[in-house]
Amino acid sequence: MERLDKYLSAQTTLSRRDATAAIRRGRVTVNGIAVRDPAQKLDPAIATVTLDGQAVAYHRYVYILLNKPAGILCVSRDPKTETVVDLLPDEWRTRGLFPAGRLDKDTTGMVLLTDDGDYAHRMLAPKKHVPKRYLATLDAPADQAVCDAFKNGMTLANGEVCLPADCELAEGCNAVVTLHEGKYHQVKRMFAACGRHVERLHRLSMGGLPLDESLAPGEYRLLTEEEAMTVFL
Ligand code: URA
Repeated sequence: MERLDKYLSAQTTLSRRDATAAIRRGRVTVNGIAVRDPAQKLDPAIATVTLDGQAVAYHRYVYILLNKPAGILCVSRDPKTETVVDLLPDEWRTRGLFPAGRLDKDTTGMVLLTDDGDYAHRMLAPKKHVPKRYLATLDAPADQAVCDAFKNGMTLANGEVCLPADCELAEGCNAVVTLHEGKYHQVKRMFAACGRHVERLHRLSMGGLPLDESLAPGEYRLLTEEEAMTVFL
């Protein structure tokens, strides 16, 4: 059983305070009856809730697409440094969200946050190989030899062997890389093995889901469950 105000703020974009106000004003019904007590308990799996006459869809899990800015840690919590979860509003933070897959502190771009452990597990499982695309800005242009080294599955400086990856040359010192695994600092280490330094790295997509270009750095939006699952397409 869950409190109505908590339920409403978790299932809509209303803050907890706005959810409480909406309930007190009689804008919310539970099973067809207007409820003005924010502390009223309901069973989320079976209750029918409306806000201003519109059904509130119940989502067991939350999926959030974030455009990560540089300088933010890609973990749930850190005592000293701001994290991707700190960028979200309080009512979402209380759901125990975590990033499904990491980016380095200085890497920008697409991060998925969820409270669905199976989803994250499925996405990161080596067997699934959800491909991840990055735009890398290098200190000097890459060339065909670099692309071939990526394609052939290179060995890193410490002896680790990488799966074949894709490297497309782009304008100037840019290259678009697609990885099928997630080793520590992998893009940077692969370019380092080819004599290039990655100056900027930006994640463009994960599987079939691209970063929403309308999201400025630090902005995020809720994904529908259907959109979130396009990662696996
Ligand atoms: N590869 C890296 O080197 N850094 C990232 O953040 C992601 C992939």
